[in-house]
Amino acid sequence: MGLVLLTLILLATVTGSFVFDPVSSATEEGQKGCKSCHSKLLETLPQGHPHVEAEEVKSCLACHTAKGEAAPWKWIVHFGHYSVEGFSGDCWSCHLIDQTGDFKAYDSHLEKAALRVNKEDVGRMAFYYNSWGTSRYLDHKHALKKLDCNDCHGGPFPKEGAPTERCVSCHGSYDQLGQKSSMHSSGLYAHFSDKEVGCNACHKAHRESALVCNKCHTFDQRVPY
Ligand code: HEC
Ligand code: HEC
Ligand code: HEC
Ligand code: HEC
Ligand code: HEC
Ligand code: HEC
Ligand code: HEC
Repeated sequence: MGLVLLTLILLATVTGSFVFDPVSSATEEGQKGCKSCHSKLLETLPQGHPHVEAEEVKSCLACHTAKGEAAPWKWIVHFGHYSVEGFSGDCWSCHLIDQTGDFKAYDSHLEKAALRVNKEDVGRMAFYYNSWGTSRYLDHKHALKKLDCNDCHGGPFPKEGAPTERCVSCHGSYDQLGQKSSMHSSGLYAHFSDKEVGCNACHKAHRESALVCNKCHTFDQRVPY
């Protein structure tokens, strides 16, 4: 430790100013906001990216809007960090809860309604963001299509699974799905007729999916992911 410190002091003396390598020190305490890790934001742009004039986050928002042709800003930033190995920060590298209890991003430039949440509920999300960023499950398949938590859950910090209506709004009803894959055709649900079967009965999102029927049968069907 002493030696490391000495080396750092020597380095600082030699170079005159203390140059901190931002990305490699991402584990350090207190690195908050984009600039604390990326001294030059433009250097994070992927190859072949359209030309961007200015350094500030504000210039990114010109194209990365919620409805623009480029991916939404929230997706860009979350996926850009949770899908790579090199990122060792957490929610609090980019977010804070201010004095009024409002959950915000340090570098937000958007006018938004207040978002109330406590620290524990935010912390509980880390597992899901990591899974969404890298897993072989359905959450990640949707992440690759530039969809996120809100698309399935209808809001941030979910306290329960995703409602079937949301899946249906994009994928269609059982009858429509049944035209492609027999497993979805409603005839199969005869002995579930007293209770609607949710998509989640077979399709899990943050873990391996499984055919619910095989609790009692041995059908040779596989639920993808
Ligand atoms: C705690 C440190 C840290 C903070 C804070 C941080 N980043 Fe990053 N960022 C990283 C690391 C590490 C990578 C991955 C670098 C790599 O793989 O080369 C990365 C990658 C990126 C990428 C490339 C993503 C891609 O898909 O190629 C972009 C863009 C980016 N960051 C923008 C931002 C913005 C905007 C903010 C602020 C909202 C921010 N970062 C905050 C550490 C950080
Ligand atoms: C002139 C419009 C424009 C501006 C300004 C812009 N982008 Fe992009 N960006 C695009 C387009 C178009 C794509 C490719 C389509 C997509 O994936 O969204 C893209 C893709 C990306 C990707 C790759 C997304 C992926 O698929 O993995 C990252 C990361 C990114 N932009 C970061 C930034 C950052 C950071 C800024 C601000 C410094 C910025 N962009 C400003 C248009 C823009
Ligand atoms: C690298 C930076 C970064 C990290 C890490 C990060 N976020 Fe974000 N997050 C952002 C940015 C940037 C936005 C968009 C903010 C804006 O545009 O105002 C955002 C938006 C959000 C929103 C939407 C807020 C709203 O008002 O709609 C939620 C919810 C959120 N993040 C949760 C999380 C959680 C939970 C974690 C940790 C598991 C996390 N974020 C980690 C940068 C980050
Ligand atoms: C906002 C729209 C949207 C919502 C909501 C949504 N999905 Fe998806 N889903 C997609 C898209 C887009 C794909 C990628 C389709 C492709 O690659 O052909 C996908 C892929 C899938 C796949 C894999 C299909 C394949 O052939 O690889 C399954 C299974 C799936 N979704 C199930 C669900 C379930 C279950 C829910 C609800 C928990 C859900 N989806 C919610 C849009 C959505
Ligand atoms: C009883 C289990 C089960 C339930 C419940 C279920 N699925 Fe599936 N799903 C499957 C199986 C098995 C496959 C693979 C079918 C195949 O490969 O032919 C599949 C495949 C899919 C696919 C991939 C494309 C396709 O049509 O084959 C989508 C999308 C999908 N399901 C959406 C849904 C949605 C949305 C719901 C709820 C409305 C739902 N599933 C409910 C078992 C189920
Ligand atoms: C494809 C749709 C889909 C996406 C995308 C998705 N989820 Fe989920 N989520 C589900 C389903 C379905 C469940 C029910 C448990 C399961 O199947 O794994 C669930 C369960 C959860 C739970 C557990 C709720 C409880 O019962 O306590 C949390 C928390 C959660 N998701 C958070 C997130 C976050 C955060 C994201 C984004 C990073 C996300 N989810 C993205 C569909 C999705
Ligand atoms: C809790 C156990 C259980 C589950 C889960 C279950 N089944 Fe069954 N199933 C049975 C039993 C017991 C029978 C035989 C008794 C009968 O004929 O009513 C049966 C009979 C059947 C039959 C033949 C009888 C008929 O109605 O024509 C089909 C087809 C069938 N199940 C399909 C399914 C499918 C598809 C699923 C998943 C969506 C499923 N089952 C889930 C217990 C179950």
